[in-house]
Amino acid sequence: VAPDALAAACDPSRTEDFVAGILDGSIRRIAVLAGAGLSVSAGIPDFRSSAGIYKNLAKFGVNASELERPEDLFCIEFFRENPEPFYAASAMLFAKDATKPTPSHFFLRLLHEKGLLRRVLTQNIDGLELAAGVPQSRVVQCHGGMTAATCTGCGRPADIALVNDAIQATAARMAAPGGGGASGAVVIPHCPACGGVVKPNITFFGEDLPPSFYRTLHHDFLHPSPAGDPDADPCDDGPIDALIVMGTSLQVAPVSSVPQLLPKDVRRLLLNMEPVGEIGSLPGDAVVLGDLDSSCAKLAEQLGWTSELEGLVREA
Ligand code: APR
Ligand code: ZN
Repeated sequence: VAPDALAAACDPSRTEDFVAGILDGSIRRIAVLAGAGLSVSAGIPDFRSSAGIYKNLAKFGVNASELERPEDLFCIEFFRENPEPFYAASAMLFAKDATKPTPSHFFLRLLHEKGLLRRVLTQNIDGLELAAGVPQSRVVQCHGGMTAATCTGCGRPADIALVNDAIQATAARMAAPGGGGASGAVVIPHCPACGGVVKPNITFFGEDLPPSFYRTLHHDFLHPSPAGDPDADPCDDGPIDALIVMGTSLQVAPVSSVPQLLPKDVRRLLLNMEPVGEIGSLPGDAVVLGDLDSSCAKLAEQLGWTSELEGLVREA
């Protein structure tokens, strides 16, 4: 994005215009595109920040020499050869007891409660959007989730408990004195039918995204139904009229192309530590750089939702 365009998009008046659009009802069908930055304050590291997984492999139980590049952790060809790094990292990432949604997740819940949320397209597999109370029908997990599993040997569905038990067992071994990091410490789940390696249904590099992603592309972005359906919820009655992009580096296709699928008059708001993609280049773009929870709290304040947001965070 050209520096002057980005500077203009960062001007507070752009965000104030976005907020005014919500308050005057001209924005009423908001899509959200979320990434790992949304869960960092819940204790789940992102991937590409300096504190992220890809730059701290050893910290996440992964022997970097086993990988050619950090993304191999989530690459299907690599996993078929060697599932150990993935299950070592998963033990460090997912073994913790249930993490709580962040204030930013609860901001999405408020968008829904106000009838403004068309859809959340999340790249995260942690399910915290659902835990925050956003209904399943409004959440698309573009990179899958940790609620189902498949055997990479025979292709049969496998019980996700096999994955969770292996992750917990690995985490326990890593936590035991002297057990950390030793390659023998990693437990790999196997298919009871054929002995093949079981993998959770998250989308690895080299795999196709779930059908729900293509359904939302079709119905929400490319071919939305026209307005005027008396039976539709207001947030469904007509095309998306605003997009909020939060906590993502927009580095991974095809999700990274979503912001450019919308007509140029659709207003876009970026809430992120850093500028990403080409957001800021359009006159209707607003950019708020900084900590996501703080940006969402500021937005809630401008919208008059502070006490509701604080109530949800307190109850969590
Ligand atoms: N506040 C605001 N922004 C933040 C915060 C925070 N507290 N923490 C991180 N971010 C921003 C980072 O600046 C970065 O731009 O969130 C973004 C996270 O980017 P990535 O780590 O690349 O995560 P994501 O975009 O979700 O990755 C996409 O890559 O590895 C694959 O499949 C994996 O779904 C993942 C995909
Ligand atoms: Zn099998």
